[in-house]
This record gives sequence, C-alpha cells and structure tokens, in this order.
Amino acid sequence: MPKRQARISPDDRGFYFADGVYEVMRTYGGRIFRLNEHLKRFRNSLKAVQIELPDVEHIGEICVELMERNGFSGRDVFFYIQATRGVWQRNLLFPPKEVLPTLYISVTEIVPPEREREQGIRAITVEDIRWQRCDIKAIGLLASVLARNQAQAAGAEEAIFVRNGILTEGTHTNLFLVKNGRVFTHPLNRHILPGVTRTVVLELCARLGIEVIETGVRENEISGMDEVFVTSTTWEVVPVVMVNGRPVGAGVPGVICRTLQAEFRKYVMRETGSGALDN
Ligand code: PDD
Repeated sequence: MPKRQARISPDDRGFYFADGVYEVMRTYGGRIFRLNEHLKRFRNSLKAVQIELPDVEHIGEICVELMERNGFSGRDVFFYIQATRGVWQRNLLFPPKEVLPTLYISVTEIVPPEREREQGIRAITVEDIRWQRCDIKAIGLLASVLARNQAQAAGAEEAIFVRNGILTEGTHTNLFLVKNGRVFTHPLNRHILPGVTRTVVLELCARLGIEVIETGVRENEISGMDEVFVTSTTWEVVPVVMVNGRPVGAGVPGVICRTLQAEFRKYVMRETGSGALDN
C-alpha cells in the first residue's frame, strides 16, 4: 500500500520499547544481493530476541513483488524490513502467543553515494555507548542517532565507535584499517554487526591475496594507519580520509581501498545475471 496509507498502532511494541529487529538489503539491476545471508541474519536477530515471525523464507518474494508493483523492476533499490513483537498493552512482559509480530517492508530507489565513494568521507570517534548485543540488528538505534549527529555537527559523515579503547564499527558501517598492505577489522563478536558487505570484502581480499587480520585495533593506532575505509549495503566500500580532523595516511583514498572498490564493482558486474546472486 502507499506509505501514507500505512498505519501502525501506538500500542506497537516497536513504538513503546523499540522491541524489534530489522534488515536492510539491496538489489543490483533488480536482483537481490546476497538474499540468503540477509535472511539468515534476520532469522538470527529474531531468534536472539525471541520474536516468532512466520514465513521469513517468503520475504524475498515479497520484496520482488514490492519492487515490481512500485515500478522498480530491473533497478537498484533497497528494502527496509522491520519486525516488532506486535501490538499489545504497554507491559515489559512478552504479549500472549496469539499476538502476531508486526512486519513492515518498504522499497526505496538507491541514489548511489558517488561523492562518498570517490572523495572519501570524514569521521570522528565516539564512545560506544550501545548495548552488549550489537550483533543483533535491533531497531533501538538511539546511540547511533546521537553519534551520527555528533559527527555531522563536527563536519564529518560518520562516527566510529570506540569500546574500551578498541575501534568497533561505524554507526551504520563496518570498519577496516590498512597498515603496510595488511587489512585489519574487528572480529565477529557481540560488539559489531556481522555485515554482509564485510563478508564480501573479506572474500575479495582472500581472492586478491590481501592479508586480513581480524583483531581489535586501538583508537590511538589510527594515526599510524595508511588507510581507513567503511563498508555497508548501500555505501559498499567508502574511504575515510580524515578522522577527528587529522588526515588518514596521505589524506586521500588509499590503494587497497581503491582496489577493493574496483573489485567490488567487478564482482557485482560478474555475478549479476550469472546466478551467483541468491535469487
Ligand atoms: N546498516 N554495522 C552497523 C551498525 C550497521 O547498521 C550496518 C548496516 C553495517 C553494515 O552491514 P551490511 O554490510 O550488512 O549492510 C555494519 C544498514 C545498512 C542500515 O542500518 O541502514
């Protein structure tokens, strides 16, 4: 239905408690990129918070239909998929079993972030005040909202979270750092989201013979890094050229980042239409 006709109850658990989880996935040329991995992560998020959403396996079909009905067939779009624990009186206890989750899915055409990809972005570091389950794609994003706006107020485009002195990830991106040709990124644990783009970038590094070390990098090590970049579904690979007002390396996008951007493009070109996309 048209978004302006959609109605969600004020008694929705998402509205009261941010009691829900979400996913963001995209298409290239109308085909969903890594659908199975996104659905797997969505299932993991749902399971972790004990929301029983039936028919997760049909979400891919729903998304394709949504794209077609909105006249976006064959285009680059992203889907926002959110499930909350449904509508019930305000009470921290789970509602009775018969209360069904609320599922909301929307489709939006992607405006490619060309300036970010070409010129790179500026970032600031902020204390990671998020909860201890950042591996769950939960809809409660207040800490990220505050951090992103703090970045904007400082003239930057992204905030990088720091937990106990260790760089974790961006507000909506995974973080990579490069030193002497070796790539560093935070290991998968409860402090970061297991990004689908992160997985693709690690696969590309393996294919290119670029050494990757999954380890926590300290905030004070940024100044010695040659390159920093971030990844996400809609941004893909975006160079970070300045952190906290200081240039990263030479202050321009680095060679590893440029290589991975180009390989990512090639990968998408190669795989789109050849059946390696999941749908
Ligand atoms: N953000 N880390 C966080 C905290 C994120 O919110 C995201 C994605 C990522 C990158 O994950 P992926 O490569 O699977 O997109 C990392 C989505 C796009 C969002 O909230 O809009």
